[in-house]
Amino acid sequence: MKSILVTGATGTLGREVRRVLVEQKQDFRLLSRSAHVDDEPSHWLVGDLKKNVGLDAAVESVDTIIHCATGAGDSLAAENLIAAATRTGVAHLVYISIVGVDRIPFGYYRTKFQVERLIEESGLPHTILRATQFHNLVYSIFSAQHYWPVLFIPDIRVQSIEVAEVAERLAEIALDPPAGRVPDIGGPRVRTIRELAELYLASSGSRRRVVRLPLRGRAITAFRVGDHLCPDNPYGTGTFEQFIARRAGTPGSTG
Ligand SMILES: NC(=O)c1ccc[n+]([C@@H]2O[C@H](COP(=O)([O-])OP(=O)(O)OC[C@H]3O[C@@H](n4cnc5c(N)ncnc54)[C@H](OP(=O)(O)O)[C@@H]3O)[C@@H](O)[C@H]2O)c1
Repeated sequence: MKSILVTGATGTLGREVRRVLVEQKQDFRLLSRSAHVDDEPSHWLVGDLKKNVGLDAAVESVDTIIHCATGAGDSLAAENLIAAATRTGVAHLVYISIVGVDRIPFGYYRTKFQVERLIEESGLPHTILRATQFHNLVYSIFSAQHYWPVLFIPDIRVQSIEVAEVAERLAEIALDPPAGRVPDIGGPRVRTIRELAELYLASSGSRRRVVRLPLRGRAITAFRVGDHLCPDNPYGTGTFEQFIARRAGTPGSTG
């Protein structure tokens, strides 16, 4: 059985990857900057990718790394992880990226594209999966405006995906041989943000208005033409409606 290290194991995606690995009874470890205790404390390791702390111990005896951690300084974090993985001879580095990072001139995406290239040039056997936005992200754009009289949106389309399905695909990739760039994955349908905003408001019976933000610039133009979409590969089946139905009842989550 392969030993798998998950970075970013406390994050939105990392928590789901962990759930899948538990279900599959895989041998795994979880990296976080903070100490965690759960029913299996030996799973958790403390380390900081950016500060280069605890990484040799984290990757020791690991066959595969699923790199889900993200934050300010992602390139430096990747360099440190790659160096540690190279020292210990990790057999497979799996990286989650975002559809369109090579086409959309948006700061966070540029960094992700840079990390992709660092991994490709590292000499480490690797697989890079690009996914579209998670339903959670779209939802958080709406819920962050909970106390505002209207709901502001950019006039773009999205193909948001259920994060659990991205985690399942990553776990599958982690057990497969390294494959370089694999086909992008997206949610079941391409929809306007306005449509999703209206679904979100309707789910709580809110009568707030949806207002389009007059955004300009090269990044928003790339989003408008759909450079962040992969309509030819609607991998996920979980819909935004199902996501908000699950969230219903969470205090402050809609409206
Ligand atoms: N959100 C989306 O819609 C979306 C779509 C496609 C791809 N992705 C990609 O999926 C990945 C995961 O995204 P997410 O939304 O799950 O992120 P998230 O919820 O913000 O979680 C970030 C994780 O990174 C860890 N982390 C941050 N800085 C760290 C450091 N210096 N050292 C070690 N760990 C560090 C955090 O762990 P601790 O705080 O416990 O240390 C946390 O678990 C990212 O690469 C993102 O670009 C996201």
